This record gives sequence, structure tokens and C-alpha cells, in this order.
Amino acid sequence: MSDDLHQTGSLVVDTNSTQDSLSQVTRKYFETHYGSPAEFLVRAPGRVNIIGEHTDYNGGFVFPAAINYYTYVAVSKRHDSIVNVVARDWSGEVDHIDLTKPMHFDEARMWPNYIRGVVEQLQKRNYPLQGCDLVVSGNVPQGAGLSSSAALEVGIAKALTHASGITLTPLELAQIGQDAENQFVNCACGIMDQLISTSGVEGHAVMIDCRNFETQSVPLPPSYEIIIINSSVQRGLVDSEYNQRRAQCETAAAHYGVDLLRQVSVEQLHVQRGDLDDVSFKRAKHVVEENARVLEMVECLRSSEHGKLFQLMHDSHESMRSLFEITVPAIDFLVELVAKTLDGEGGVRMTGGGFGGCVVALVPVNKVAQVKAAVEANYFNETGLKEVIYTARASAGVVVLSTGFSADGVG
Ligand code: GLA
Repeated sequence: MSDDLHQTGSLVVDTNSTQDSLSQVTRKYFETHYGSPAEFLVRAPGRVNIIGEHTDYNGGFVFPAAINYYTYVAVSKRHDSIVNVVARDWSGEVDHIDLTKPMHFDEARMWPNYIRGVVEQLQKRNYPLQGCDLVVSGNVPQGAGLSSSAALEVGIAKALTHASGITLTPLELAQIGQDAENQFVNCACGIMDQLISTSGVEGHAVMIDCRNFETQSVPLPPSYEIIIINSSVQRGLVDSEYNQRRAQCETAAAHYGVDLLRQVSVEQLHVQRGDLDDVSFKRAKHVVEENARVLEMVECLRSSEHGKLFQLMHDSHESMRSLFEITVPAIDFLVELVAKTLDGEGGVRMTGGGFGGCVVALVPVNKVAQVKAAVEANYFNETGLKEVIYTARASAGVVVLSTGFSADGVG
């Protein structure tokens, strides 16, 4: 498989990465920096969520796909307890981690914290880690809501454990990434992003039951393309708003006398509403109904009833707009624009945590050009923002690639 980026719009394309596959670029960069070839390469994907938003931390259902935009980690073992990291995408900045010392938060730079957080979690679990030289590089768009940070956490966790002869399950790896983010980076995210980055399946979206972490992969119909449109809206308040939504869901769960909103049925939601305040009720209604939509979406895809996809994705977006209140006008405009072009086929909605970021659309192959043209002709005029459009493929979860041969074809 090649690391091809299919994109239109105004993103600055890294010509090195497009001429040469990103895996080769990462390998060469490693060799130039450290003076000898990397022993192996890890590839961890970003993700797009097809449906099921803000349900993961409520113990509910999500339906993401890993995508063919990746973080690569090139690795060679050292014979001491030092982990050196070079971040190719941050102008070759470096971080030196001493495994014998406690991890400290880097106030000046954010990227090392994802790595230090993962190291701390591995050590908390008493895994004996080997020192390593690393190069990190990737093409998951950053700050776009496509989980570049989860891909980095998972890539680092896989790189360090593989180098140290430790084998972890996809769930264990994902939990290490999530705990790093919750406890070190201080973002109260759920498990979805890390778990799909470890458990993605080529050509499939994966339904995750976030209460027992069971996964079911569901083939995505080849007659649709996954189109992701980055609104280019800066996601400024996302962390505080995200944590606030979590707190509101917890308030609602406590009102219904359950640990997680997943345990509340649609009927109970209304019958036992009592004196629950309006905001908490709206948040709970979104979560309870969104869970039901995930199950219905999976059913529709399994039975090839594609006629219902449009309505389900529409209802999900409308619920994020009016009940969970996490969309912004530019995103709503984009969704409406694409929905109009789709005219009842496929489906479109905001994807990810909210307050900007991306829209995901399942677009019938014969309408892809039309959708892109509609966005390119109208979005900038309406919002003054330049979108970036990506065509994604559902991809495999994290893998270790031998550096002795090309990454292409290994999945
Ligand atoms: C972010 C979080 C996920 C999930 C989504 C919303 O991506 O990292 O855990 O909560 O938002 O569905």
C-alpha cells in the first residue's frame, strides 16, 4: 500500500512525501540523523468516525474507521535507558527521555508530552523498556479532529513495546494511549480514537461497544467513497468544551441512577426525566439516541439497505447541532451543502469532538466530483475559509513494518 495523499484544496503538500512514500522518507531521515538504518518501522493510522459521537465515554457505541493517513515511527534499539526522539514534522525538534527518571510535562512544546505520557503509562504497568532512537513523522492532518495525537500515542506505544520484546493486545495498547492523554496530557478523551488506531480493518468500519470494548468490523460498500472535508475552523475551545460535555453527561447519568448513559433506554429518558435541567436532558437525549443510530447504521450496512444512511447521518448531525451543541456555523453550512448535492444518497455529518474540524461524507462514487465541485465553488465564498478535501480509505490498525522491504503492500 502506498502512502498516497488524495487531496484537493489549499493544503501545502510535502513534495518529498508525495514523490517518495512517507515510510521511505522516514527511514531515510532516520539514517541521516542517526548514521545507521532503522531496525523497524511502526505505522499507526488516524481515524474518521462514521457515526456515534460523544458516546464512547458514556459506555456506548461508536463506528469509526482507521484511515490511510498515518504516523510513522522509525526505531532502533539502544543499549542504555535513553529514548531519543526526532520529530520530522516539527522541524526536526528533538526530545531526550531518560527512562530512569520521572516524566515531566513539557510546558513549552506539546508534542513531547504524548510520548512522555505513553512512557509513563508503560512504566506504571511495570513493563521493562529498552532505550531507543526514534524518528516520528506523519501525514495525519493535525488539529483537524482526525486523531493525529492518538496515532502518535499508539505508534509510540507499539514502537517501545516491540523494541522491548513486549506483546500487548490492541485494547492494552489503546488504553495506554488513552491513559497517557487523560493523565499526562490532561484531556479527558474516551477510548475510541486509540482503539480504532490499534484495531482498524482494511475496507471496514469497526463498531466498538465502549462498555466491554468488543469490536465488530463491518465492510464499507465499495460503491461509496469516504470523503473528509476539513472546515479549517480553528478548534480553540475544544478541550474545555469537551470536558464540560463529559461533566454534563455524568450529571445526567447520576440523575437516572446509572453509571453510564449507555444504560438509559429511550423510554426511561423521558419517563424518568423529572427535574433534570434542560441542558443535561439535551445532552442525555443526544447520547441515548446516537447509540441507537449506531446500531441501526451497522444493521443497514450489513443488510445493504443504503437508503437509510442519509437520514441516520443527517439525524446525527442535527442532534450534535441542537442537542449536544458542538457544531459551528461553518460546519453546519458545509454539511447542508454536501447534503443538498447528495440528495438523499450516501450521507454526511460532522465527525469527531466538534467545534470545527472535519465533516465526513459517504459519497456514491458517481457523485464524488459533484460534491467536491460544490464545496470548492461555495465554501470559501460563504465562510472566508479554505477547505481541504481528503479521499480516505478504511485501513488496518497499527502495524510493525520491517525496514528491509517497502511498506507498500504490507498492511
Ligand atoms: C474525541 C475524543 C473521543 C470521542 C470523540 C467524540 O475524538 O478523543 O474519545 O469522545 O471526541 O465522539
